[in-house]
Amino acid sequence: MNIVPSIMATKKSAAKNLRSTVTKVYLLTTEALKDSKITHSESIPEWIIERIGDEKEVSILGSEGPIIFKVIDTQSQEHQHYNLIADSNYSIAREALGSLVGSIKKERSKKVEINFFGLDEEMVTGAIVGLELALYRYNEELSHGSITFLDDGKKVKKSIADKALAIAQSINTARHLVNLPANLLNPVTYTNAVKKHFAKSSTMKVVVYDEKKLEKEKCGLILSVGQAAANPPRIVHLKYRPAGAKGKPTAIVGKGITFDSGGLNVKSGAGMGVMKKDMGGSATVMGFATWLENSGVKKKVDIYLALAENAINEHASRPGDIYTSRNGLKVEIGNTDAEGRLALADAMDIAITQKEKPEVLIDFATLTGAAKVSMGDFVTSMFANDDELADKLLRASQANGDLSWRMPLYRPYYKGFKSNFADMNNMSKVKGGSIGAALFLEKFIGDTKWAHFDIFGWTSGFRPSLVQQGGSGQGVETLIGYFKN
Ligand code: BES
Ligand code: ZN
Ligand code: ZN
Repeated sequence: MNIVPSIMATKKSAAKNLRSTVTKVYLLTTEALKDSKITHSESIPEWIIERIGDEKEVSILGSEGPIIFKVIDTQSQEHQHYNLIADSNYSIAREALGSLVGSIKKERSKKVEINFFGLDEEMVTGAIVGLELALYRYNEELSHGSITFLDDGKKVKKSIADKALAIAQSINTARHLVNLPANLLNPVTYTNAVKKHFAKSSTMKVVVYDEKKLEKEKCGLILSVGQAAANPPRIVHLKYRPAGAKGKPTAIVGKGITFDSGGLNVKSGAGMGVMKKDMGGSATVMGFATWLENSGVKKKVDIYLALAENAINEHASRPGDIYTSRNGLKVEIGNTDAEGRLALADAMDIAITQKEKPEVLIDFATLTGAAKVSMGDFVTSMFANDDELADKLLRASQANGDLSWRMPLYRPYYKGFKSNFADMNNMSKVKGGSIGAALFLEKFIGDTKWAHFDIFGWTSGFRPSLVQQGGSGQGVETLIGYFKN
């Protein structure tokens, strides 16, 4: 099972039947167009300049083949979303080039030359990321010609292109993991694939908690979630310790329910339809880990995948059952479909009780339907118990076109978890589902600085760079942005 898709832009194309033409793409900013900085041999006819305005696109036939122009207007109103959220130039460029992949492919040229004018390094990076994201497909190899990138007529530096491709590959890894169906990806096959992936790594060590170790560690909650599945739960700990790393580690935890049937509180047909994506949080952190491995980041990072399948058989947990968490809290099951918080709780407790205690813990989880209802596909609900951490993450999310919005950890709602038989219930009787779920998790974080991202992880495909519907890689760029500065 391949969990890391190959980089398409640099892949020697095995495509047949390509035409011996060159497709030239010109991606320019409105400023570059005004300055007529375009010094390429293909002069742009007057009529085109008149026709292309804000992010409009024109194709003509040049002497060597098709020419596609696209002008990016970063000031356009559609990129401004009032006080806290606006599209960064990085993300505008990402979507702009991503949107051209369809036309580029259609031309079937042996050579594709992509020319940037007026784009700064961030925008060039974004554009290359967007192209690579748009080239990803779950199972078919797209045929396209060899691709070269030019900035103001000069070849884009290899270091810049490589950095962009590494970002794109980590996002595509997260997308691909989500797209893998649950009959292939279960807690055991997932663990083995991750182990194999990092087997030769010099920076990333893999430590696996199998069902016996989870038992020994008293991880009663994650074990209860997986107790009806053919493949038992796992917590996978990825320890990133590059040479020269100093200071306290950062812990990152991902919800990895490889399939969420709901358990005995079984989901409806429609609700269960895409529940292979319920390991989306773990896919985000695993995508990030593939970037981190070769990033040169000199910080200690501990990544945890909390893997289980929420299935149904005679061993399934029941409403009213009481299980004890690793940190000793008794939890009554009010709803077997609120399983993500259970799996995360034990993984978070492992994270904060390590010998090398983390300073910060960040978790990603497809935790509630409520987060999807309020925020939709592309904005993540983020909760944090520390303002500085929240601001840093929000800045990283905004700059990297992976938007999130801070939600309140409004304490009075915790009352909804009251249980007559245990320390708490796993389902709240109070409305505000994503706030409640975050308040449940807060009981397992101790005094650690903490941020929680309630992601959707999936797209129906109207974002240009995500032409392949399915896993969206939500959260990966936020994490990369948080660590790269
Ligand atoms: N995995 C789901 C949440 C989910 C559903 C995320 C749809 C994205 C899309 C989670 O395990 C769940 O079922 N949560 C319940 C909790 C409820 C039973 C308290 C929910 O949100 O309805
Ligand atoms: Zn559920
Ligand atoms: Zn779930």
